[in-house]
Amino acid sequence: MKTLRTDPGAKRLMESLRNMGYDCSTAIADLVDNSITAEASEIYIDIIARQDARADMIPKQESHPAAIVIADNGKGMSRDELHEAMRFGTIQNYSIGDLGKYGLGLKTASLSQCRILTVSSKAKASSGVRPRRHIMRWDIDHVYETNDWDLLVPEEEELESWEKEALNHQVTNENGTVVLWSGLDGPLSLLSSPNIREREKALARVMEEVTNHLRMVFHRFMQGVPGRRKLTIYVCGVPIVPWDPFCRNEKTSELDLLRIPVVSAEPDGSQMEGTVIVSPYVLPREDEFSSRAAWTDASGPKNWNQQQGLYFYRNNRLLQAGGWSRLRTIDEHTKLLRVAVDFPSELDRTFAINITKMRANVPVEIRERIESSVSGWAKTARARYDTPPSVVENPRQSPRIETPVMASVSGSNGSPVPAMESEKYPAFTLAPELSEILSDNGVKWELRKFCGALLKVLEAIHDRRINPEQIPVNILKKIYQNDL
Ligand SMILES: Nc1ncnc2c1ncn2[C@@H]1O[C@H](COP(=O)(O)OP(=O)(O)OP(=O)(O)O)[C@@H](O)[C@H]1O
Ligand SMILES: [Mg+2]
Repeated sequence: MKTLRTDPGAKRLMESLRNMGYDCSTAIADLVDNSITAEASEIYIDIIARQDARADMIPKQESHPAAIVIADNGKGMSRDELHEAMRFGTIQNYSIGDLGKYGLGLKTASLSQCRILTVSSKAKASSGVRPRRHIMRWDIDHVYETNDWDLLVPEEEELESWEKEALNHQVTNENGTVVLWSGLDGPLSLLSSPNIREREKALARVMEEVTNHLRMVFHRFMQGVPGRRKLTIYVCGVPIVPWDPFCRNEKTSELDLLRIPVVSAEPDGSQMEGTVIVSPYVLPREDEFSSRAAWTDASGPKNWNQQQGLYFYRNNRLLQAGGWSRLRTIDEHTKLLRVAVDFPSELDRTFAINITKMRANVPVEIRERIESSVSGWAKTARARYDTPPSVVENPRQSPRIETPVMASVSGSNGSPVPAMESEKYPAFTLAPELSEILSDNGVKWELRKFCGALLKVLEAIHDRRINPEQIPVNILKKIYQNDL
């Protein structure tokens, strides 16, 4: 059959590629993905506020064009590699654990936020060859003018001095890559506002949003992932602190995880296999947190209610933080439940990963399995939420040895759990003297606490709020081992 070569129209296609739904934080996260895949241990995100070179020709207050730099000490790229990297639809053989997928992020994420994308890269030195820095640039206005896919290759002398300085970032002294966004567009254009107050407000907002997003999305890399160097990310020179959605240095209860093998059918007829790991956590209530500041920080960018739900991780990178993906609805009473869903990139198709990698779907194959487990975990979370401070409080308890049973049932009216002197509970009616005995100051605190937990369990069974067959033995064991 004859063929007709049909190149895409550069101008129209570029315009649509710029509108994939990124915002500044998600776009920067896409570049951080690249730095992590390039094995960087340090990434700098800097916002440059500068006076225009023509500042002497125009009133000073009118010219403060800003720029954003993302620089890393990863393995960098040779000239050919950089050329391929700048192509829309880079050809790449991904290794296990790599964060890339489409060969687009560097270009689409960057050009959603700016009109000029300049990349400078210096590859790692290889036997005797002194690495050189190579620079290439996409300029939207040039593409629009020519309606062609012409990449610019600036010579050093064609760069402005602030550009040279930005592209020579110190973190790339040995090797690494610098991505420079100039001609900032959309909300980022406020960083260049002639109004100083507006400029400063925009700067504070961008710094806060970017910091919050990155400390969440890349928390595992900053905390340390086996087999790779710990990552430090600096935003405007300040190292950011990882945000662990599960607050594992607090009294979080880790419930039993699920391992679900999944086979994904690929469009070419082949099959991909992978294991999905679903790890549920019930976070402490406000009064159980080590400090008020820790509780507030744990609430996350979207706040407690919206942050409950599923946290999808692809190769350790967080894609979606919270929400129930239509498994259930957001509920104040289950806000302490957060569930990590880990899947390898082999299952991308099953999880419906898109170009911006901002969300994932719960695959139909495992939906029912996850749904039924989630409703059990939600009961535990709800009970912890309902349990009053006095019963759970135990100064001798170490952070990880929670007593989930204490937290997993509550009084029939959803009210606080048994004070020992209370006779309202069915168990006490069966054995009234028990209440008296347990109220005695001579009774060991541990015994009182243990009986309190058992009474709550009996009460919950009596009210049919829990099924006795569903009380996990390991939880009872934990109470016994840790508290008696
Ligand atoms: N900071 C970097 N250091 C080294 N190489 C990089 C860097 N950024 C990009 N690259 C190279 O450029 C290629 C293209 O990057 P780009 O983000 O466009 O696509 P990708 O990461 O392969 O896939 P995705 O579209 O899913 O992000 C990468 O595959 C990588 O080889
Ligand atoms: Mg990428």
